[in-house]
Amino acid sequence: MSPARPPIRVVCCIGAGYVGGPTMAVIADRCPQIQVTVVDLNAERIAAWNHDDLSLLPIYEPGLDAVVGRARGRNLHFSTEVDAAIAAADMVFLSVNTPTKTRGVGAGQASDLRWIEASARQVAVAARGHTIVVEKSTLPVRTAEAVKAILAAAQGDGHGGKTFSVLSNPEFLAEGTAIGDLEAPDRVLIGGEDDAAIEALVGIYSHWVPESRILRTNLWSSELSKLTANAFLAQRISSINSIAALCEATGADVREVARAIGSDSRLGSRFLQAGPGFGGSCFQKDILNLVYLCRHYGLEAVASYWEQVVSLNSWQQHRIASKVVQSLFGTLTGKRLAVLGFAFKADTNDTRESPAIRICQDLIEEGAQLAIVDAKVEVAQIALDLEQAPLEAAAGAALAGEGGWLPSASALEAARGADAVLILTEWAAYRQLDWVAIAALMRRPAWLFDARAIADAEAARAAGLTVWRVGEG
Ligand code: UDX
Ligand code: ADP
Repeated sequence: MSPARPPIRVVCCIGAGYVGGPTMAVIADRCPQIQVTVVDLNAERIAAWNHDDLSLLPIYEPGLDAVVGRARGRNLHFSTEVDAAIAAADMVFLSVNTPTKTRGVGAGQASDLRWIEASARQVAVAARGHTIVVEKSTLPVRTAEAVKAILAAAQGDGHGGKTFSVLSNPEFLAEGTAIGDLEAPDRVLIGGEDDAAIEALVGIYSHWVPESRILRTNLWSSELSKLTANAFLAQRISSINSIAALCEATGADVREVARAIGSDSRLGSRFLQAGPGFGGSCFQKDILNLVYLCRHYGLEAVASYWEQVVSLNSWQQHRIASKVVQSLFGTLTGKRLAVLGFAFKADTNDTRESPAIRICQDLIEEGAQLAIVDAKVEVAQIALDLEQAPLEAAAGAALAGEGGWLPSASALEAARGADAVLILTEWAAYRQLDWVAIAALMRRPAWLFDARAIADAEAARAAGLTVWRVGEG
């Protein structure tokens, strides 16, 4: 066991993304005596974090602007000076991206750890004295071992010898509710072997998190708990989406079924919302990691069990696109569809793995012209995700029968001349749409496909639309 050390005074976080930014903002807000610097190689992103206008922060997250506004410049700093921030820090959080590998061994399943490795190497070189390194990124189990090996090779180098402790402290925040999740977490999980390092991190969280909610585990349990939590949550969504399809075929209503099963206290009522399939940067990636890990250890039955959760999710996304095609007489060529929502869930500008991407791609493939609206997602991001630039509004693509998309400023603008409105993200505004006004602008017969079941279906029907809602028979 290491000797007790003084409390942490200077923290550095590598990676100013959806996890690093909000997490460090809350730590700085709750611990005014700790200096927190968030660094990133992406200068544009850092400039946006430093923007005077808090509505222009690089990520949209309700309540984040207020937290950043209180702490920034006081004890919260955003910088591209990575080495200097590492050198000054007692504790370094690794919060870099770990997407699924696209090539080589484990392509399509394993996480690409090149950014983790690069940041660990940077810490190894730039750190001074004793540094506690905390993994925050979602990682496959036993990544800490690689981080430890890189750091161990640097131990004893440079100024008076440097030493490291490695902890795993997975993030459980959900986008859209990140600030609430960070300020009042169900639990904080800290994995590691060095008790003094664990207590140093507990010392930070205990400024606002009750001791009973801080769980200490070994390193591997902590990493695996994160994958397991996300796999279980995603499994519930695939389960309810599978039942939604059965409800549609049989005349039941999935919301009634969800209410009925959710009242069983053993099951609980949350995460039973049928929809277009789960998106986000974590669920699919973490399950695929789990699958890869199981295969690595020869657990084929376990691997294929979890793989089904992802397969069902892809199936649900394609199913919704097919439903639209079938309803619109089997062809979308030259038809305009209004797509409401592109983010993977409401209250975020994040589109990573958004079900809207696959659904829109399927519809474009069928020749549809999509008018896409989202209050927070930038047009350039939609173009990147769909791998095509928006159509010129006046171009002759419709006549040529080619599919494509263009951005729209409002639901009303998108609905003009459309055969169908498709709701893909549950933005609150879509609960209160003026269906009489929308219907008046659409070509008849007109449809509403509500993949989130949030719109006022009665009002849409009364306005003359044929309404399909996910999970309604
Ligand atoms: C998730 C985990 O919730 C969080 O703990 C972890 O740290 C990161 O991954 P996030 O992806 O941000 O968070 O959002 P979440 O609220 O979990 O939603 C994920 C996806 O599932 C979204 O596309 C959402 O629309 C969908 N979903 C969620 C449903 O379709 N039905 C539900 O009942 C709940
Ligand atoms: P997450 O959702 O996990 O926060 P993001 O992709 O939003 O993921 O953020 C990760 C950030 O980490 C990106 O802004 C990326 O530029 C940054 N990053 C990756 N590698 C490094 C590195 N070696 N040094 C500094 N920043 C890095």
